[in-house]
Amino acid sequence: MLVKAHAKINLLLDVSGIRPDGYHELTTLMQTLSLCDDVLLEPAPEINLAVEGSGLTAGPENLAWRAAGLLRQRTGYRGGAGIRLIKRIPLAAGLAGGSADAAAVLLGLNKMWRLDLGMRDLSQLGAELGSDVPFCLWGGTALCRGRGELVTPLPALPPAGVLLVKPHFGVSTADVYRRYDALPDPGHPDSRRMLTAVENADLSGVAKNLGNSLERVTLAMHPEIGLIKDAVAAAGATGVLMSGSGPTVFGLFPDPPSAVRAAGRIKKDEYWVRACRIYGRNYG
Ligand code: C5P
Repeated sequence: MLVKAHAKINLLLDVSGIRPDGYHELTTLMQTLSLCDDVLLEPAPEINLAVEGSGLTAGPENLAWRAAGLLRQRTGYRGGAGIRLIKRIPLAAGLAGGSADAAAVLLGLNKMWRLDLGMRDLSQLGAELGSDVPFCLWGGTALCRGRGELVTPLPALPPAGVLLVKPHFGVSTADVYRRYDALPDPGHPDSRRMLTAVENADLSGVAKNLGNSLERVTLAMHPEIGLIKDAVAAAGATGVLMSGSGPTVFGLFPDPPSAVRAAGRIKKDEYWVRACRIYGRNYG
């Protein structure tokens, strides 16, 4: 069985406070991209994992393995699964690659093992694995609250082009949030205006209202991200923002071919560069 595990970007990410559990309270608008990992599943007596296309470890600590283990443990299923991950989404990039793989494993094994769990149960399991996993189960365009795990699906956006540019380093999400907490005056993007733009499928309104509370934190750690933002804007994007805790920068384009042309203007020897497009829902 092949399940596509799609990357995401945050069109808006606002942090409204710290919770008693140490996580941060978020309002974020997430959008699935066409960029994806392939997750291949086959019946096997035990859980085993192979990873291709990345230096990611393939042991029980891998989020894909943990997803299979959690599903088996909670449902009492007795068999296993051979999982093959073909990675295309970069690691520690702000694109939810690990969460997407975990969500794909949950969705795929729910079918392959004939467990028949609904989205509510899958989302609860997903939230135990990571804050972005429930969104990755839904896919499409969604408003996410809580620590990111409370997902409200929204109407799909028009098929815009997206250019992704990532420097050759990753960042730790936990580290970015810690530094965010030390900011004297963090500032907030306008989530109402963004939500209105998304609800009206107004791509230029979306591009105008992009905002991410974590951007200044990661930018201060890595000023190179500012240079990347300038390069993506100069390549013709209608809006440019860092995704999640970074360091990947995305640019929005009115259509996918414009994003492909813009990719040709970014220095590929210095950065990881991909043109893709926004992508619809996995489920429902
Ligand atoms: O949920 P996930 O494991 O993806 O989160 C990684 C880290 O990011 C957490 O350990 C936490 O430090 C931070 N985080 C947070 N608030 C959130 C989501 C993540 O502080 N809403």
